[in-house]
Formats: sequence, C-alpha cells, structure tokens
Amino acid sequence: MTGTWSTAILTCSDQGARGERTDSSGQWIRGWASSRGAEVKGHRVVPDDRAVIEAALIHFCDVDRVDLVLTTGGTGLGPRDVTPEATLAVVDRQVPGLPERMRAATSALTPTAVLSRAVAGIRGRTLILNLPGNPKGVRECLEAVEDVLPHALAVLTGRIRDHGRAEDHGHGHGSPRPPHPGAPGDTNCAHGQHGPDRTS
Ligand code: MTE
Repeated sequence: MTGTWSTAILTCSDQGARGERTDSSGQWIRGWASSRGAEVKGHRVVPDDRAVIEAALIHFCDVDRVDLVLTTGGTGLGPRDVTPEATLAVVDRQVPGLPERMRAATSALTPTAVLSRAVAGIRGRTLILNLPGNPKGVRECLEAVEDVLPHALAVLTGRIRDHGRAEDHGHGHGSPRPPHPGAPGDTNCAHGQHGPDRTS
C-alpha cells in the first residue's frame, strides 16, 4: 500500500459508459483522493444499471478491499438513476449522517442539492459514499464531509480501538487528511472498542 488509505471510484453514467461524455467528476475525485494520500485502486465508468453497479461495488469492497468507495452520478430522480438503490442493496449498515450533511450544508448555495438521493453505508470494512454526478456537486459534497472522513475510516478499519487522544485527524482548520494506518487515532468520541483487535 503506497498511500495511507485506499479508495475506488465508480462513475455511474450511461453516456459516460458509452464514451459520449468525459468522466470529469471521476477525474476530479481521483485528484482529490490522490492529493490526500490515497491509493486509487480502482476507477470504473459503468452504465446506470443496478446489477452492474452492485457488482462493481462488491468487487471494490470484497476483492480490492478499499477503505472508501466514492460513486458519482445516478442519485437523482431520473428513471435510470439507481445508484442509491444499488448501494443500499450491498451495504450492511447505513451511515445517514454523511448524505444528510452533504444536502444540508450545500443546499443553501445550490437548492437542487436536495434532489440528490445519495446514501452512504458500510460493507465489511469499506465505506461507500454516493456523490452527485456533476463536478460542482462532487466538490461541494466532498468538502461538506471530508473533515469527518478520517475519523470514519479510522474507526471502520479498526485503527481506532480505544479511548485516548492521538494525532489530529483534521478536526482543526486546514486540509484534513485521512488517517495513517496504525495511528492510534484521535477521538473526542465516547466510543469504546471498535471491531476486532488488530495488531498490524
Ligand atoms: N449537490 C450539490 N451540492 N451541488 C450540485 O450542483 N446537483 C444536484 C444534486 N446535488 C448538485 C447537488 C442535481 S442538479 C441533481 S439532478 C442531483 O444532485 C442528482 O444528480 P445525479 O443524478 O447526477 O447524481
């Protein structure tokens, strides 16, 4: 693992899959993730087909075992928009606070933000987060939640196992960074043990 955390990007777009549209949002996410120390282990452009999206998500989670899957597109009200349904079909548990914050934080500037049905959830030790399709929406929504992603991934992957203060994962100002593997983990959360004990 060359990065400090791993990610995969799934662009859900019929036009994109046919090669009729540049995957600007996927490319933007790639740059965002790389600039934050991620190893991008996968990046696919798939049609708005629920079975295809589900299969790609499962592969990223179960085979590539990435920490975070970011999808873009297919969250709206169109008849072909099925990314949230595909995501819900493969996750074990939802993390509703992330899309709630994305909509709440961005809708003042972009009223149509409330039209995204984006969801987030956990499959195994992977967090899946839906983002809207347009690059502006991707940027706005990622900015709305990126401060909490380091802590989310640290807890999910077992890097935070107990109480105690540790390095700042981005609760302060500036550009937050996802956690370094093995970091004891900051937390102001009153959580106890998280997940199986990892020694590596
Ligand atoms: N959220 C933010 N923050 N900014 C945006 O520009 N675009 C909206 C919405 N969410 C947008 C946003 C629009 S126009 C639509 S139609 C929905 O996301 C769904 O987009 P999708 O179907 O491409 O996922």
